[in-house]
Amino acid sequence: MVYPVIWRNNSVLLIDQTRLPSEYTVVEIHRSEDMAQAITTMIVRGAPAIGVAAAYGMYLGAREIETSDNQEFLSKLEKAANLLRSTRPTAVNLFWAIGKMMQTAYETVGTVAEIQQTLLETAQKIHEEDLQTCQAIGDHGLAALPKTPEKLIILTHCNAGALATAGYGTALGVVRSAWKEGRLARVFADETRPRLQGAKLTTWECVQEGIPVTVITDNMAAHCMKQGLIDAVVVGADRIAVNGDTANKIGTYSLAIVAKAHNIPFFVAAPLSTVDFQLVNGTQIPIEERHPAEIYQIGETILTPPGVEFYNPAFDVTPAELITAIITENGVFSPGDLLSARGKMAMV
Ligand code: MRU
Repeated sequence: MVYPVIWRNNSVLLIDQTRLPSEYTVVEIHRSEDMAQAITTMIVRGAPAIGVAAAYGMYLGAREIETSDNQEFLSKLEKAANLLRSTRPTAVNLFWAIGKMMQTAYETVGTVAEIQQTLLETAQKIHEEDLQTCQAIGDHGLAALPKTPEKLIILTHCNAGALATAGYGTALGVVRSAWKEGRLARVFADETRPRLQGAKLTTWECVQEGIPVTVITDNMAAHCMKQGLIDAVVVGADRIAVNGDTANKIGTYSLAIVAKAHNIPFFVAAPLSTVDFQLVNGTQIPIEERHPAEIYQIGETILTPPGVEFYNPAFDVTPAELITAIITENGVFSPGDLLSARGKMAMV
């Protein structure tokens, strides 16, 4: 099993996801600022994984604060929280985890040293719970998959696997559970332009476990569906509004449209920490825009002539009506029924 975030010897180890699959490198993080940088540069990425990383980032920030005055400690911790919040805007898990850490800091009665220790324990709990959550998502997802054919071909987009979570994955967790139960023939992985998380990371995970995987470019999905090659689509999510509108990696929306056109079930697999219960619909989900070099440059090669403009939104929002069901750790919900899941959320 792949674990992208590990707490060891008082520091955080991150698999450097910018270097996979050609190089497996581990980066050691000791400071909150370095964690913020690792999230921004996508050394660690994927909504639940950046939540876990940010939680440890908060602890690293907390232990850097040298004071015995609780008020001063809290105000300095707010600064660390703000820096971590400024890294990536779309995945709500980041804000959820930082919120949990701040809440712990405010609610713990004790000395600064005691609060620091409780913050470490909270980060570790967020980390452990995410792993259990992914395994539950995998099992619920398995039950929700179409009953025929016996061995399914599942199309996924981006990487919602072990690398994007504490381990096991959300969409790829469903794939893993299907594989273990003999219900999977093969995964089709969209390459996922521009950063190629599908081609680089989803494939890497599948190859580690011997799961058969076929890469297609993003614009091939409709053609593959028309040819009868795809039985179900399962994707992850970065932020889900209460009505089920779902932000995920750019290209997810068009995938949902073509799945609908071919009558293929389209599942979103995500922990409840990805649901933003403050948002009634997806129109207010902040969409990250990244540097245009992600589009115009591959390695050292510039693809476009001078004078061209670029637009590089990293996520899009799939309307709830295109989603067959949302698979969570607490069961499978129709997109309009997420409020009923709220009472069942795990309390960290
Ligand atoms: O930009 P990324 O690579 O962080 O985007 C990741 C995705 O869009 C994933 O599908 C999503 O975070 C879910 S990960 C379980």
